[in-house]
Amino acid sequence: MNITITKTTTPKAKPVMENLPFGKFFSDHMFVMDYTEGKGWHDPRIVPYGPLQLDPSAMVFHYAQEIFEGLKAYKSKDGQVRLFRPRKNFERLNLSAERLAIPELDVDFCVEALKQLVDLDRDWIPEQEGASLYIRPFIIATDEFLGVRPSSTYKFIIICSPSGLYYPEGLDPVKIYVEDTYVRTVRGATGFTKTGGNYASSIKAQVIAHERGYSQVLWLDGVERKYIEEVGAMNIFFKINGEVVTPMLNGSILGGITRMSTIELAKKWGIPVSERKISIQEVYEAYENGTLEECFGTGTAAIISPVGELRWGDKVMNVNNNQIGEVTQRIFDTITGIQNGTLEDEMDWVITID
Ligand code: PLP
Ligand code: COI
Repeated sequence: MNITITKTTTPKAKPVMENLPFGKFFSDHMFVMDYTEGKGWHDPRIVPYGPLQLDPSAMVFHYAQEIFEGLKAYKSKDGQVRLFRPRKNFERLNLSAERLAIPELDVDFCVEALKQLVDLDRDWIPEQEGASLYIRPFIIATDEFLGVRPSSTYKFIIICSPSGLYYPEGLDPVKIYVEDTYVRTVRGATGFTKTGGNYASSIKAQVIAHERGYSQVLWLDGVERKYIEEVGAMNIFFKINGEVVTPMLNGSILGGITRMSTIELAKKWGIPVSERKISIQEVYEAYENGTLEECFGTGTAAIISPVGELRWGDKVMNVNNNQIGEVTQRIFDTITGIQNGTLEDEMDWVITID
């Protein structure tokens, strides 16, 4: 399929790239493609960024048949544009699509479309340390209909946002609130997908955590509220007695690409790493007996975020004296070095746009 390109005639002023917020500014262009039952995906195009016109009855507004992704483009010191593992995001978009009864996409085509879009808007990629072009591909159901069934029409859109890190704390350890009342999802539901509904149902707990002075919620399993799942926008890792542990993917946790990259690096370095069930009680006991050495979150928007405090009911765990741990720092340095091109891409993770 040929992608048509309509360039903007009114380029926007770029934001000040120092201290960029996350996800507030958007580049000059977006990619759009339509789906119609019987015809498949069609009319791929890059057009000026701007509002969509949708009927108020469009199904996405009512039943949230919607999925999204998040990935980043970086510019190296010599001006090379670098995408971090983009195929993984489109493969995961297809996993989400399958669960939400949305038609799947061709991964190679998506990567090509993304390369063309980012190439056109390459001047929007911030070069400041810690900043990047955050890329948001998403699919929405557009049938004008109020019955509950899969839509027969969709839009696939990619927008780009020059952004700083998700947490203003950066590499300073964040405080996390262990949520034992509300749950995010249960196995069999949509926890392993990136669909808006997962986030909608998480907002209330996040508001409460913020009011209590915590940046995010750590979710426990939806059945027993015992086993650790993930954070609002990150997967979670612990280092206990020399072993790096993260909850295994069980159907209710998002299979993060930063999580996958962290596990691959730890294995390569010979650090013991296991994906298994881990209860909040086990973490608390490790804290009590002095073997909880590090805790960090992993995610595209936040990259690696050290956790300095975990609150579980009336128990407060101060991890590693509120300092970033050795493994956390090494993972952060390696992933960001590969992303921005200051380290060799030994893992073959980066796709460049020349
Ligand atoms: N868990 C949730 C709920 C997320 O929203 C994200 C972010 O995308 C992650 C984990 C981390 O996934 P990734 O590393 O692919 O960004
Ligand atoms: C990410 O892309 O890392 C996200 O977590 C998406 C969003 C919820 C910020």
